[in-house]
Amino acid sequence: MSDIDAVIAAFSDKTRVVYFETPANPTMTLVDIAAVSAVARAHDVLTVVDNTYATPLITRPIELGADVVVHSATKYLGGHGDLVAGIAVGSAEVMERVRLYGLKDMTGAALSPFNAMLILRGLKTLALRMERHSQTGLAVARWLKAHPQVRTVAYPGLEDGPQYALAKAQMRHFGGMIAFELEGGYEAGVLELWQPGAAQAATDCAVISFGDDSSDFARDGQCDDIRFEGIGAAELLIPVNTFRDASDCQRLCRFGVVALRDYR
Ligand SMILES: Cc1ncc(COP(=O)(O)O)c(C=O)c1O
Repeated sequence: MSDIDAVIAAFSDKTRVVYFETPANPTMTLVDIAAVSAVARAHDVLTVVDNTYATPLITRPIELGADVVVHSATKYLGGHGDLVAGIAVGSAEVMERVRLYGLKDMTGAALSPFNAMLILRGLKTLALRMERHSQTGLAVARWLKAHPQVRTVAYPGLEDGPQYALAKAQMRHFGGMIAFELEGGYEAGVLELWQPGAAQAATDCAVISFGDDSSDFARDGQCDDIRFEGIGAAELLIPVNTFRDASDCQRLCRFGVVALRDYR
């Protein structure tokens, strides 16, 4: 999706919708919303953008030409890790179609009142939280970039990153999500977790989610996260292995991430 020529080439007379995440989970790849939406519009096709990573504080896809924006409100919009919800936003005409023919038959068209109230409460602090997540994200991404054991860091706010110009054009801040790979890859790495007790997280945690008051370290997309509490945390998606020693972890903790939650 980040290669506009590939997007253009992929259209056929069967194409009905263009759907993408930006930044994408878990690669952090960005998609040029304006460019893809323009191509889709020319084919009379709707563009749907999953804006969960960015939130409306960072990116506003409809202003860039998209037709529908979807969010997992479970994450930053709720902001406290205590609900599961999804939201679709678009013109009255498109939303009518979603209500009548889409969600109603698949998942149910309405949130529970309690979850709706929790989201409304979360939205009151969204701006403050996203600014802090973004500050923390940039600090951690820069630190990872300079670390000798880190091979690649994918974070839209790194000035020398391949999509920095696009990030500047369509993101107000750069968010709290970071993906990185370690030198040596999975085979060469040490698969021990950082702290006593943290390994227990691998078996105890029920879900990986993000966007609340803690930092999650998700490895290989598996259900093994380590959580650090602290408002405005960064979320680290580690596709290979973890660091070797606790001092690395402690240095990460300095970036607004204050204490290891005891899972035992
Ligand atoms: C970009 C994105 N969209 C949607 C979802 C789904 O979220 P939910 O947990 O609310 O079903 C996720 C989950 O990680 C996600 O990363």
